[in-house]
Amino acid sequence: MAKASNNIAMYLNVIFVVSLLLVITVESRSLLDSIVRGNSPPVCDEVVDVKIGDTCFEVATIFNLTTEFFDAINPNLNCTALFVGQWLCIDGSVLN
Ligand SMILES: *[C@@H]1O[C@H](CO)[C@@H](O)[C@H](O)[C@H]1NC(C)=O
Ligand SMILES: *[C@@H]1O[C@H](CO)[C@@H](O)[C@H](O)[C@H]1NC(C)=O
Repeated sequence: MAKASNNIAMYLNVIFVVSLLLVITVESRSLLDSIVRGNSPPVCDEVVDVKIGDTCFEVATIFNLTTEFFDAINPNLNCTALFVGQWLCIDGSVLN
């Protein structure tokens, strides 16, 4: 019995380590991506959460942001797939 639970603990440890490695790999890949593309990720100083019916355009308009700036501080944002509670960056800085 003790041996069986030891095996389970070991198994869970392996899963934990593997998922940790996976996270690190994905993180470093996106870091590498931005280095390769030669641009640093934007810094976000302020966020709002999406309410029902919000669109990217509305949020940008309310906070008086140009579409270009809004897009720049919200990289990888898919505006046709916004969900309630999602965080949108409304202030920040774009390096380079
Ligand atoms: C909105 O942005 C424009 C252009 O940057 C600026 O001239 C204007 O004063 C801003 N309005 C508000 C309310 O912040
Ligand atoms: C954005 O989301 C929509 C709806 O889920 C999807 O059809 C579209 O392919 C997505 N676009 C990108 C660039 O991921």
